[in-house]
Amino acid sequence: MLQSPSKSGGDHEIRVAVIGVGSAASGMLQAASAYRQGIGLGILHPVMSTYSPSDIEVVAAYDVDSLKVGKTLSDAIHARPHSLRIHHSVRSEVKVEPGVFYGEFEDPELKIEASNPESVKKSIVGSGCDVVLNTINGGQPLAAKFYAEAAVAAGAAYVNATPDPVATSVELEHTFAKSGLPILGDDLLSQVGGTVLHSYMLWFLNSRGVKVRQTYQIDVGGGIENRITLSRDELRARKRAIKTMTVGSVVPYPVNVVSGTTEYVDFMGNERETHFEMVGESTLGAPLELEVTLKSVDGSNAAGPLLDAVRAAKIALDRGLGGAIEDVNPYLFKLIRSNIDPFTAEKKFIEFISGRTGQK
Ligand SMILES: NC(=O)c1ccc[n+]([C@@H]2O[C@H](COP(=O)([O-])OP(=O)(O)OC[C@H]3O[C@@H](n4cnc5c(N)ncnc54)[C@H](O)[C@@H]3O)[C@@H](O)[C@H]2O)c1
Repeated sequence: MLQSPSKSGGDHEIRVAVIGVGSAASGMLQAASAYRQGIGLGILHPVMSTYSPSDIEVVAAYDVDSLKVGKTLSDAIHARPHSLRIHHSVRSEVKVEPGVFYGEFEDPELKIEASNPESVKKSIVGSGCDVVLNTINGGQPLAAKFYAEAAVAAGAAYVNATPDPVATSVELEHTFAKSGLPILGDDLLSQVGGTVLHSYMLWFLNSRGVKVRQTYQIDVGGGIENRITLSRDELRARKRAIKTMTVGSVVPYPVNVVSGTTEYVDFMGNERETHFEMVGESTLGAPLELEVTLKSVDGSNAAGPLLDAVRAAKIALDRGLGGAIEDVNPYLFKLIRSNIDPFTAEKKFIEFISGRTGQK
């Protein structure tokens, strides 16, 4: 482990290294900034243990987009037209440094500016961060692993919002457990996104005695993350498998489920439209169909869960917990080790943050 400087922030400061200054990170930073100005709209857990969103302080930021590298965080979050629009200004003089890039995706609009792994690791360790937050584009398992190992070197917790396996990787989870450092992930559940809404709707139909036969979810959106996902068959298939498994596991019998990102629509920018259809039978075998359309904004949908994930990671770090935080992961992430229903997941999460039961 490299030596990190003493973590000298205030008692309640959560020092975060943000990896990937895109829409999700922007949503989290804007929501924290709004909270500091007394606007807590949409924040599910204003106080977690002793931490509020105002305690989140970015101490380092990394990206590989030449339009963002070298800019301050305040400017980098709106460097791209598809980014989440600015609802609340974020005041941060932290300069975005180049991250690592292993050529794991290509995008015609993106000019890559990266650095070598040793310098990036040294910089992350030198930042004195408590939490490394990974919000880079999915489909980069090598980069996700590198940043996780840098977090271990820094003695920091790691939050993986991407669909690449980190918290669910046996090898990496073991490394974190051995180092006594927490790891949260994988693949963030949006606040009110397609997967969580679909899961709740299926749970509801099942709890009201409906036998669900089949259901699908199709979704369209703009944004670079969507374009990258759709340009790579294996990444698209992986995202679809994660969503399908999460949604399908809510009902205690086999259901035909299809759930995935379906189309990229340039002019939608950071917006997303998701259509759900559920078909089943109610009493006496009468047909029952439910159709729902959700319109949402990706960056703001990530904000609340990321504020929770970063604070949960710091709470776990304070408590000396190592490895995957199983009382937190099923509430905040899609790709988890064992599926539990959304209500149990929420109950375990609340108990964890209040320190009542479970992992302490
Ligand atoms: N609601 C949500 O936004 C949501 C929900 C679930 C999961 N996620 C996941 O969160 C991640 C971020 O999503 P987003 O919408 O903010 O994407 P985005 O495209 O807006 O931002 C990603 C940022 O990461 C940077 N990046 C890419 N590769 C990098 C690397 N190797 N090192 C450093 N920076 C790198 C990009 O340049 C970009 O600035 C994705 O993996 C996505 O699947 C987001």
